Amino acid sequence: MEYAGWSPRQGPNRPNPGALKWLWRERRCSSEALDQSGVWRFRELLPILENCGNAITLREGNTPLYALTQASRKLGIDQLLAKHQGMNPTGSFKDTGMTAALSVAKERGFEWVACASTGNTSAAMAAYAARAGMRSLVLIPEGKIAWGKLSQAMDYGAVTCQLKTDFDGCVKVLAEIVRQEPVYLLNSVNPYRLEGQKTPAFEIAEALEWNVPDHLIVPGGNLANSSALGKGFRELRELGLVARMPRISVIQADGANPLVRSFAASHGRELEPLEAHTRATAIRIGHPASWRKAVRVIQDSDGWCLDVSEAEIAIAKAELGAEGLGCEPASAVTLAGLKKLRADDKIGSGETVVLLLTGHTLKDADYTIDFHRGTLLREEEVGGRGAEIDSLRHNAVAVEANPAAVLAAMKGTPG
Ligand code: F0G
Repeated sequence: MEYAGWSPRQGPNRPNPGALKWLWRERRCSSEALDQSGVWRFRELLPILENCGNAITLREGNTPLYALTQASRKLGIDQLLAKHQGMNPTGSFKDTGMTAALSVAKERGFEWVACASTGNTSAAMAAYAARAGMRSLVLIPEGKIAWGKLSQAMDYGAVTCQLKTDFDGCVKVLAEIVRQEPVYLLNSVNPYRLEGQKTPAFEIAEALEWNVPDHLIVPGGNLANSSALGKGFRELRELGLVARMPRISVIQADGANPLVRSFAASHGRELEPLEAHTRATAIRIGHPASWRKAVRVIQDSDGWCLDVSEAEIAIAKAELGAEGLGCEPASAVTLAGLKKLRADDKIGSGETVVLLLTGHTLKDADYTIDFHRGTLLREEEVGGRGAEIDSLRHNAVAVEANPAAVLAAMKGTPG
């Protein structure tokens, strides 16, 4: 049962929604690599390759949708879920877009692929390029990406250039390179990346038995992901697989908040680039490429755009860690943003809310260790939240190598 060449807008060829639901679920039991991918099992909605057999897959997608039991109790939200995209093969949501766009690059005969990155895109690109036997060029801002991500680009054999500039400066240099050389650009302006990144919307709807959550909350950096997910839900609705769209809200760090400022200053009509600062390095972006698309998806879905402080991000990240999930700092802005929305009564207790956790906690272990050691935040950033932060810290303790000392440490630790 195939729907080759089909797209949602081709009315007469519309496949039967029930048949698609059955087929996509059935593929999860298949031993074929393509079927085991949480991107390519939805290939009827990905008409991007001449031949699907050319797909380069690391079995990305099929990530878990976890219930956040502690946070939902605390916030009084009945159904609070986290779609953990950090559980992808290279530890971030970028894999779903990369399998799509890199497969296109390979099929079209490119030797080189390249991206500017705050770390996760480069890790994903380098891995998929290595699997495809292609060369990859990574431009990253020197000293401003987490070590875990840098180590991945090295491990997967990318030519990794650390430039003395920020992410936005890396984008400019790369634009010049792709003008001069036949290098395939894999930044998120690449439309095929968005095709892959829309598939978590399908997985979320499927996991909820084809019901759409009331609210989806995503972090905002270069601002491609929010529109990719919006596209995914829109296609499901056009197909008749779901009845409506979720509200989609975008959360930024308050030191890297050009979209929030744009809404405040001009209702999203203009965006003033800024010099970005946040320890959530993944979203340290002052001149986001896809801001117009993000404005559209927020406005069309009746969502919100807001920012959160460094302390709010750190607290939210520790709370997710304490639920046994963990994530990288950029992902934790979603929970921090949800808390603000709930405090402002913008989200009701009966709503189903999904947070998109974009990266794995091991991506940025330095951040986590600094938090638990109490060295992450400056005093003025902590403000009046010292006690709350201390209650979330679980620092490692140096203990003598004997049972009595270890037992004393156990008893001295609050539960
Ligand atoms: N979360 C993480 C962990 C990210 O790595 C990124 C973006 C985002 C959120 C923001 O997503 O850009 O679609 O709004 N990282 C890019 C990179 C910029 O190069 O890895 P966005």
